[in-house]
This record gives sequence, structure tokens and C-alpha cells, in this order.
Amino acid sequence: MRGSDLVAAARSAREHAHARYSNFRVGAALETADGRLITGCNIENATYGLTMCAERVAMFKALSEGHRAFRRIAIVADTDTPTPPCGACRQVLWEFGGDLEIILANAERETARFMLSELFPHPFDARFLSDEPSSR
Ligand code: THU
Repeated sequence: MRGSDLVAAARSAREHAHARYSNFRVGAALETADGRLITGCNIENATYGLTMCAERVAMFKALSEGHRAFRRIAIVADTDTPTPPCGACRQVLWEFGGDLEIILANAERETARFMLSELFPHPFDARFLSDEPSSR
């Protein structure tokens, strides 16, 4: 699959965004290790704090459908400069996707690529909770 296929899927998913409070619409497309695409969009709520980002919607959909290994995620927003995943999404993507490739784009073009480890260099994760002392 090409990166542009992921970006196209994220652009389509963005059409489904529920963003009536912020008007900031986001789409995401997650590629599984076996080459499937799972999409997500942001879903806002009148209580604001219950808002869920597009990236976590995509990851939770994928997990709930039994997918366990992932390669890349494309994230699309209507900004000239790259819109990177928020801190909460970085934590969740790291937990379930490890060092994913992250492709950022807007309606016209790809704006940036990162590895998640570049955006999230010192993660707190399962290694800290292991009984193995050397893991700390
Ligand atoms: N949002 C995302 O869905 N993903 C991001 O990477 C950044 C922020 C959403 C959450 C909220 O609905 C709106 O964008 C403004 O923060």
C-alpha cells in the first residue's frame, strides 16, 4: 500500500468528523501489519472532555476488531503546517502500535512524516511495570 492510499482514506474519514464545537475536523487511517486499513474521525461532545480524537477512534476500532499489530497511521487536518497527534494519542498509539510511522497531511498534500519515537521519545510503558529490574 502507498502512503497516498492511507492519506486518501484519512481524508475520506475526515468527512465523518463530529466537530461542531471546535470546527477542527480530523481524519485518520491506520494500516495493520497485514495491510488492512482502519479509519477514524474526531467525535466531539457537549461536555467537551469526552471528545475523542481521530487517531484513538481508529486505534480502538482496530483493537476491537481483533487487530494487534500496526505499521503506519495517516492523519489529515485542514492546516498548512503539520497537525501532529496530541499527547494522549501519542501514549495510546505507542501502547498498541509501538514505533509507528506517522504521515501528516492536509487536503492538498502530505505535510510531514515522523516515527512515533521522534514525537514521543521517552515513553512510560509496560516495561516500567514489569517485575524484571533490568527493565527499569
Ligand atoms: N484532534 C484530533 O482528532 N486529532 C489530533 O491530532 C488533534 C486534535 C481533535 C480533537 C478535537 O475534536 C479537535 O481536534 C480540536 O482539538
